[in-house]
Amino acid sequence: MTESITIIDNRTGNQLEIPIVRGGVSAAEWQKLLPGIWFFDPAFMATAACDSAITYLDGEAGILRYRGYPIEELAERSTYLEVAYLLLHGELPTAEQFEQWKHDITYHTFIHENVRKRFLEGFHYDAHPMGMLVSAVAALSTFYLDAKDIFNLESRNKQIIRLIAKMPTLAAAAHRFSVGMPFVYPDNSLDYCANFLSMMWKVAEPRYEAHPTLVRALDILFMLHADHEQNCSTTAMRVVGSSHADPYSACAAACAALYGPRHGGANEAVIRMLTQIGSMENVPAFVESVKQGHGRLQGFGHRVYKNYDPRAKIIKRTADEVFAVTGKNPLLDIALKLEEIALADEYFVSRKLYPNVDFYSGLIYQAMGFPLEMFPVLFAIPRTSGWLAHWVEMLDQDSKIARPRQIYSGAEKRDYVPMDQRS
Ligand code: CMC
Repeated sequence: MTESITIIDNRTGNQLEIPIVRGGVSAAEWQKLLPGIWFFDPAFMATAACDSAITYLDGEAGILRYRGYPIEELAERSTYLEVAYLLLHGELPTAEQFEQWKHDITYHTFIHENVRKRFLEGFHYDAHPMGMLVSAVAALSTFYLDAKDIFNLESRNKQIIRLIAKMPTLAAAAHRFSVGMPFVYPDNSLDYCANFLSMMWKVAEPRYEAHPTLVRALDILFMLHADHEQNCSTTAMRVVGSSHADPYSACAAACAALYGPRHGGANEAVIRMLTQIGSMENVPAFVESVKQGHGRLQGFGHRVYKNYDPRAKIIKRTADEVFAVTGKNPLLDIALKLEEIALADEYFVSRKLYPNVDFYSGLIYQAMGFPLEMFPVLFAIPRTSGWLAHWVEMLDQDSKIARPRQIYSGAEKRDYVPMDQRS
């Protein structure tokens, strides 16, 4: 069978055969036959915007792999910093490469005093930490002027290390400010996640020692959130990066995309929903109201997964380990009941709506003591490595500036009417 399609322009009878290559057909070929006729594809439902070798996702089969490695194996055997290296460099590091990587990240965790004192502390007392993070990441570009030199590999790598290293520091600083607690400096004797937890929770003790189970759980959650191919925030990173903006500005755009409730805000919405349901007896009525079109089941459904999100399976296991330390999150039983009812209901089955990564991640974060406002921030920290991997890939592919076309549906040409003659 020929792996191609044939398109016919019925206005002229002209036709063109376009090969199907790795599951795609080239729009440039289409343009040869039909210049000026655009694909109408809002929200990119059927558009592959790039070639990418970073993450493989099969939503029908529920498969997720970073650089070929199944997410289940990475979550079991790797660490977030190793996964970040893998995403960015394409291969797992040797012991020597990993030591260097860990050292570089660890020694770039500090932020300039002005970022904290003048910038972060200038926010209103009740500022949302994600809003603070979006702005602080953008502000970093004014501190590292060499960041504009994006084709200088040495400078590029320096910004990558700075961004991955400083995200937890900025995130914790935003939290401490929003609860009126003093800023905690990074403790470079600690690992990435343990250091973040120390900056979050340290009070007066000389050294904050997070529970190893909680450190490992956070590391797993960070691995699961590190990349997810062309999602909304990664697309924002690639689109803004395609204008050759510096990586801090592009990363701030990606953070902004993640801020929305349909993306990074979904796990917060799950907790609000479970709290609103209140008890197991109310679950059937709630599911019924969703089916009647009153809101959505938060943490269910996904643009790409039409099967159980593989990350949700791993998270469910991690949740048990965390609850053994923190005590069970009282909302867990409601969540389990909701899942049970929804997975047996024709409405959800026929639409292939399964729990996604956010259905359980919020329960874990809440049990660990994170306030709801921190949830999108907790997503942004690990996703930074994925965003940067895509940014590097996009630059190396010498991509053109992202510039979609439109189908114009506005007014025809008309003449300007002076204000005193307008009705
Ligand atoms: N609850 C109830 N019905 C739903 C849900 C839901 N969570 N999600 C989709 N549907 C229905 C929707 O009403 C529609 O039904 P119909 O065909 O009768 O009109 C059908 O399923 C298809 O929905 P859609 O809106 O066309 O699907 P989409 O691919 O545009 O939306 C989504 C994907 C994730 C935005 C959506 O499923 C949703 O809003 N889920 C809840 C929010 C959520 O959990 N988001 C986190 C996503 S995972 C984290 C990440 O990667 O960012």
